[in-house]
Amino acid sequence: MAKDILFKVYDLRRENPKSLASPPSKITSHRMSKEEWARTGSAASAVVSGPSKVTKSRRKGRKTAKKPIKKAPRTAAGVLRCTLDEVMCLHCGRTGDERECGAKCSREFRKVNFLPSSAIDIRGPGELGYGAWTAPNVTIKKGQWLEEYLGDLRPLPTNLDAAARSSDSLYRIWIPETAIIDAEKAGNWTRFINSSCRPNVKPWGEFVGKRHVVLFQALRDIGPEEELVFQYGAKWFEKAGFLCRCGVSEEAHMPGEKGKGKGNEGEKGEKGGKDKKRKSAKKI
Ligand SMILES: C[S@@+](CC[C@H](N)C(=O)[O-])C[C@H]1O[C@@H](n2cnc3c(N)ncnc32)[C@H](O)[C@@H]1O
Ligand SMILES: [Zn+2]
Ligand SMILES: [Zn+2]
Repeated sequence: MAKDILFKVYDLRRENPKSLASPPSKITSHRMSKEEWARTGSAASAVVSGPSKVTKSRRKGRKTAKKPIKKAPRTAAGVLRCTLDEVMCLHCGRTGDERECGAKCSREFRKVNFLPSSAIDIRGPGELGYGAWTAPNVTIKKGQWLEEYLGDLRPLPTNLDAAARSSDSLYRIWIPETAIIDAEKAGNWTRFINSSCRPNVKPWGEFVGKRHVVLFQALRDIGPEEELVFQYGAKWFEKAGFLCRCGVSEEAHMPGEKGKGKGNEGEKGEKGGKDKKRKSAKKI
């Protein structure tokens, strides 16, 4: 069971660290409700338990293809498991069918790449609520993987548009054909990353240890006491029903509007080699 502790926040001038008044849970691994996954008929909730076999029908003596049994996943690992042959592990470079790749890759990748929790301060509340900042003396290099987006794993709705409209949560990132990660009630520090039209980090959909992960990566070198921000995108703001107040222009604006919120500085030239295949994770 994931740990359930409070977030410590600093006011914007780093005085008086305190816990959030009505806190989301601070977790170190995804949460999921077995019941919720068992209830939904989402295709994404289905895990094929074995290869389809051709068996003889007893009644008519005809050969029929036995449909693979689909089981709702019972753990977060089950939801996020990906064994497609063509996917490559970001840690070991092996593809989905190779046995050596697994939980060990996830553990090692986390240990080697991610920032220690002391590197990030949650500060606020400010104009955009709370935000995630680099702590004093912390610098981040362009290209560094920072952390994984964690939250409650929810089944994909059958009609994504309708469900996206009906959900009030503004903390959701969608892993295509797999699940929605909702960090409204539980997450790690990445749930506090605000939106900016001049982003310095970006979430990517990746695979580590045969598992779908959403990972934040630095788009440029980042200095001490800088706020970490990514571009949520115009669709997110349309759904949320308000405009971006990231400060690139004095007025509130819709990202992508002419002259406002267009700058994705730092991102160009970031994708190289196998990154061509990398998918940016979508906030919905
Ligand atoms: C994923 S949360 C980010 C963390 C949030 N600030 C908090 O205190 O929990 C998204 C919310 O932050 C605020 N926000 C973040 N970036 C914003 C922006 N560029 N313009 C306006 N509001 C923003 C909005 O209230 C939005 O619903
Ligand atoms: Zn691996
Ligand atoms: Zn903006």
